[in-house]
Formats: sequence, C-alpha cells, structure tokens
Amino acid sequence: MAKQRVEDLDWNNLGFHYRDLPYRFKAEFKDGKWQEGELTTDATMYLSEAAEVLHYGQEIFEGLKAYRQKDGSINLFRPEMNAQRFENSAERMAMEPYPADKFVEAVKEVVRANEEFVPPYGTGGSLYLRPFMVGTDSIVGVAPSSEFQFRIYATPVGAYVQGLTPTPYLISDFDRAAFAGTGQVKTSGNYAGSLYPAMKAKKEGYADCLYLDPREHKYIDEFGGANFYGITKDGQFLTPKSDSILPSITKQSLFEIAQKQGLNPQETTIAVEDLDQFVEAGAMGTAAVISPVGSLTYHDKKYTFNNETEVGPKTQALYDELVGIQLGDRTAPEGWIQKV
Ligand code: PLP
Ligand code: COI
Repeated sequence: MAKQRVEDLDWNNLGFHYRDLPYRFKAEFKDGKWQEGELTTDATMYLSEAAEVLHYGQEIFEGLKAYRQKDGSINLFRPEMNAQRFENSAERMAMEPYPADKFVEAVKEVVRANEEFVPPYGTGGSLYLRPFMVGTDSIVGVAPSSEFQFRIYATPVGAYVQGLTPTPYLISDFDRAAFAGTGQVKTSGNYAGSLYPAMKAKKEGYADCLYLDPREHKYIDEFGGANFYGITKDGQFLTPKSDSILPSITKQSLFEIAQKQGLNPQETTIAVEDLDQFVEAGAMGTAAVISPVGSLTYHDKKYTFNNETEVGPKTQALYDELVGIQLGDRTAPEGWIQKV
C-alpha cells in the first residue's frame, strides 16, 4: 500500500478508512519486560505463522481521536481513560498491561510525528488513533503468549456512519459477546463475531446491528461499535446497564453532559418492548460520535424516533456540547482535554 500524501487528502470527505501515514509507534514485551518503544515508518508487522494472535485471538485495542482547534493547536479527549481501559482489557485477555502514562505519551508522539495529517479545524475530520496489542509467541496449544507487541497507528477520518443524518438499525438475533464473556473489554473476537450479522444487516439496508443481552435476549445491549441511548417522551436520557457491553468513554462523558442539560440521565435495563418510550435515540462512541438512530427493527416490528429523517433537538444539543468541548469551542470539564 502506498504511503498517503497529505496533498491527496480531501479533508471534507475523508470517510472512515485506513491510510498509511509516515509514522506509528511500536514497543515489544520480551524477556519479562517492556522494551523502550519507538516511532517507525514500517506499517507492516512480521509475525510467526504460529503467532498467538493469529490462532487464539489474543488481541486488544483502543480508539481515540486528536482534534485540531481553531488556533491550530491539537487536543486529545480523555486519553487516560483509554489507557485505563486498555489495562483492563489486557488483564481480562491475560496480556501484559502497557503502562498508562507511557500509553498517553506514545499517543502524543504519534500525533506529533503525523501532525500535518490532523485535519484542519472546521472540516469535521480528526486524526483517529488506534493503539493495539497482540500476543506474538509461537504457540500451538491454547495458552497465553509471553511476548507481545504494542503499536499505535493513526489515520485521518471523517464520519463513521452518516454524521447527524439518522440511520436505520436492525436488532439482531445474533450475539456479539457472551454473558460473562468478553463484552466489557475491547478485543478482536467481539468484532469478529459481529462481522456476519452486520454484513447481513447492511445488505438489507441497515447501518449496523443493535445487540440484545446474551442471556435473555430481552434487553438492549449495544451496537457493534457504539453504545446506545434513548431520550424518553419526558426528556430523560437512558442508556443500558449491562455487564456485556463496552464501557464507552463517550457514553460516560455524555452522561455528565446530559446531567448538566437537565436530562436526568440514568443507566438502566431497557427492554426491547419498551423502545416506544423513546422520542430520540442514538449510537455513541469515538468513531460514531453521536449518530442518531432513525429506526430500530426487531423481527416484524419497527420502532421509529423523532421523524426518522432529521436529528432530534436533544440529540443535537448533546452533540453540540460534546463536539464543542472536543474542538475547544466550549469549556471542558476539568481534565477532559489534554494538549498534544
Ligand atoms: N461499544 C463498542 C462495541 C465499541 O467498539 C466502541 C468504540 O470504541 C464503543 C462502544 C464506544 O466507546 P468509546 O466511546 O470509548 O469510543
Ligand atoms: C471506536 O469508536 O474507536 C471503535 O473502536 C469502534 C469501531 C467500530 C471503529
């Protein structure tokens, strides 16, 4: 794959794609310790055919963004929360945690090294950072790796779904994660299992799947790559409480914003049959930002929100505040923004 040239980018129409930028970070865990990491220009990883990750899926990842501010400087949004979640994921997946302070520093190094690829303010684009770690030992029996590679690549992105245009989603009969499984951590297997249901849903015209709780198939869990929220008729922000979903940093942030906006946010179980209590609904995540949900189809029943085609007022207000904070246009709560 050819290196991305900055002059070939159309900042206003980036989509959500991988692009091969000049630099990425790489560090290895071997002989019982993390080696000093460094930036590298090599986008290719060299792995044994028996590498743990290729057979037993020992992989964890994160996603966060760097945002160009009006004054040209660059901000990260709560990167220490990604670092913490990465540590939690490592523990659940029997991997060697990468120290949180080094994680944030390495993210900043990657942003600085690829600075010209951070989209200009006002384009709606940002630089997406993908920290990840894989088990690299050559192993044939099922056992955890003792060697790991940690990397962070960057790619400039625009909207993951369709920006603030509401889209239809399908409530799936498949599960993305097991009850008491790995739904709470960010590991490749959760996504591998979602590829087939998402592909089928997309063929039928849906943006993605919304999954139900894996034990009873009764309550809303989350989308393939984002958490769910709904706004009730009397203006309350509700989001699923579940042990099989990823604790979204965007969700936690919107929860606080919703509090300030008087939406009395609550984490609770949300039964499918109660979806008609919502006048607005959305997907929230780093890639998704806030993507309004036009409709949710479950078997032969379709639940619609707002008027299905326009973003609702509460969703718009949440979006404006979140994105305003990320772009430095609105005052951030203490500690939410880190300068690169
Ligand atoms: N849920 C899943 C399954 C995800 O992949 C993501 C994306 O990271 C999220 C939720 C949202 O999490 P965050 O807001 O931390 O990006
Ligand atoms: C993110 O939002 O960072 C994710 O990892 C979600 C993925 C579906 C792109």
